[in-house]
This record gives sequence, structure tokens and C-alpha cells, in this order.
Amino acid sequence: MNSFLSALEDREPQHIPVWFMRQAGRYLPEFREIRKKHDLMELFTQPDLVEKITYIPVEKLGVDAAIIFSDILLPLRSMGVHVSYSGGSGPSVTGYADPFSLNDFEIENIGFPLRESISLFRERHPDIPLIGFTGGPVTMASYVVAGGTDSNLQVTKHYMRRKGKEFVELLKRMVDLIIKMLKFQIRSGCKMVQIFDSWAGSFSPRQFTTFYAPFLREIRNSVDGKITYFSTCTGNIVEDLSTIGFDFINPDWRISMEKVVNAVPDHTGIQGNLDPASALSMDDDLMKEVESVISPVRKRNNYIFNLGHGVLPDTDVNTLRKIVEAVHGFRE
Ligand code: CP3
Repeated sequence: MNSFLSALEDREPQHIPVWFMRQAGRYLPEFREIRKKHDLMELFTQPDLVEKITYIPVEKLGVDAAIIFSDILLPLRSMGVHVSYSGGSGPSVTGYADPFSLNDFEIENIGFPLRESISLFRERHPDIPLIGFTGGPVTMASYVVAGGTDSNLQVTKHYMRRKGKEFVELLKRMVDLIIKMLKFQIRSGCKMVQIFDSWAGSFSPRQFTTFYAPFLREIRNSVDGKITYFSTCTGNIVEDLSTIGFDFINPDWRISMEKVVNAVPDHTGIQGNLDPASALSMDDDLMKEVESVISPVRKRNNYIFNLGHGVLPDTDVNTLRKIVEAVHGFRE
């Protein structure tokens, strides 16, 4: 059995499974070549290209799972906001007035052929587990409110203060989108779905547990299937986070794996959490970092190696391949 699938089922895997967040990105020369010929929207919306790009890291790195090539902001377009990736400073989201003027999210009108892309990948690579994903509620809401990346939630929290009711309504709309997206991807054949809630750790611990956690709980309770929750800067609340009931938690690299293992109950899987900056050069320190991530968690069957955030664009493909080999060959 594929080791990624074993870990999902909490059964002893043949080797420690590994994949990388943002593994289908700019650091890949093959991706950059394709990118020269097509603009990004073409890449996201043509199933043949999506399938091709999704497969590149499996072939080049030997990872145990693929993640469908898409972006967390794409589905927002069907709610009536405009999403653009053409500026130099990250994506921009325009056209938001208030949550009540957003269209209801209908999976039938998602605006890009996600089902076809997933089907094509599964048809061509039936043995490779495919991961689906969405953004997390506050991470997507922050792009809608701030119009671009607001990683410390400064703009978003200011909106929350001034327009509390609207903010709650916006989060509800995001939760609705997320539930529909996750169910749809699971139905279409994804073995695991991941919530990328990159900026959620910028809530204070109190805001997170009393105000925000119920939105996450609603997602968990509405979706049957394996869900991984990823966020950054949530190391100090990882124990609370595990009570929500996600199957796996991927914290960032700012918390040691020892602390994660002690805080998270055995039935909750763990994914992560190598510092992506460690993968920028191939040296002794990198291998020490890899070992310090794996050692405390090696006894768990439900452990999947990954980074603590996405692959950085300057990463060398060979370094990631060496990491995969080291993880697969890990012996105490
Ligand atoms: O492995 C993969 O790359 C899978 C596809 C994927 C993309 N975005 C493609 C993408 C995934 C899983 C994402 C997640 C995503 N998108 C997150 C969560 C993870 C994280 O990095 O925090 C966030 C916050 C976004 C929003 C977003 N989209 C940003 C901030 C950017 C610009 C900077 C960047 O990370 O590239 C994008 C653009 C984007 N997303 C591109 C792609 C292929 C275009 C940039 C490029 O040409 O590579």
C-alpha cells in the first residue's frame, strides 16, 4: 500500500511518507518553461495542463502524493469578486463591497474545470494519491477584505472591529464555500483535503479559541473524509487546535516536533514541519533539521513529513529530492 495512504489510515507505512506544500511551483524548471507559454489563468483552467503540472513533482522528487494544481483564491471569482495574479506583489482581489452582495457559492458555477482536472489526473495516475484543498475561512476572508496579502491580519482585524456583523457574515460565506469545495474534491476522488489557513495564527489565542474555532468546527463536522489543517504561528495553541477534530494538523516550523507530539493526542495525525528556508541549501545543517523534525514523531504511524510552509521559489529541486530520499530511508 502507498505509504501516504497507510499514514492516513494510521497503519504502519513502508516508509515515512512525504510531500511538500507548494510542490508544483516556480522552483521547478519544468513549471517555469510551461509558464513562459501560458498565462497563469490558462494553467489553472485547462485540465490537460493542470494534470501535467500536478504530476511534475511526483516524477522529479519521488513524493508519495500529488496536490491538485490550483489556487485558494480561484473559487472566490464565482462569488463576484475579481482575482488577479498579474501584479508584482502577489494576488489582488477587488470588487468587494459587503458580504451580502456576494453571490452564493455554487459548486456548479465554480468557473474552472476542477472536476475534469481531478478525473484526468486520476485516470492517468490511478496509483498516486491526490490531495485537494481550499483556503481557510480567515485566510480567504483576509484577501477579500484587504484586497491582497494581509498575513498579520492588521487590515482584516480593523475591519472586524468596525464591521463585526459583516465580518461574521463573510466568514460564514467562506465556511459555506469551504464545505462545498472539500466535499466536491472528496467526491471527485481526492484521498485527503487540506485547509490552507496560512494567516490564522495572527489571531490572538483568545480570539482563535473563543471566536474563530467554532467556524473551523463547523467545517470539520460537515465534511466526511480526511482533512488536514495547516496554519502558521499557531504553535502555542496546537493542543486546542487538535480538539477541533481534524485528522491531521500541520503546524509551522516555529514549534518543535517534540512539543507538537506531546500536545496532540495519538489519534490526531501530524504533518510537517521543516523550515522551508532550511531547504534552500544542501548541507549538514539541513539533514540535522530533517532529523530533529522526524525523531520525536517517528513512532507514530499517522505522521506525514512536510514543510512548515510552502516551498520557497529559490529552492533547488535536487535538495528536495535529497530530503525525500533521507525521509524515505530514515532509520533511528
Ligand atoms: O503545489 C502547489 O503549488 C499547488 C497549488 C497552490 C497554489 N497556491 C498555486 C499558485 C497552492 C496549494 C496554493 C496555496 C495558496 N495560495 C496559499 C496557502 C499557502 C501559502 O503559501 O501560504 C495562499 C496564501 C495563496 C494565495 C496566493 N496565490 C499567493 C500569496 C500567491 C503569490 C505568491 C506565491 O505564493 O506564489 C499566489 C499565486 C499562486 N498560487 C501562483 C501559483 C502557481 C502563481 C505564482 C507562480 O507563478 O508560481
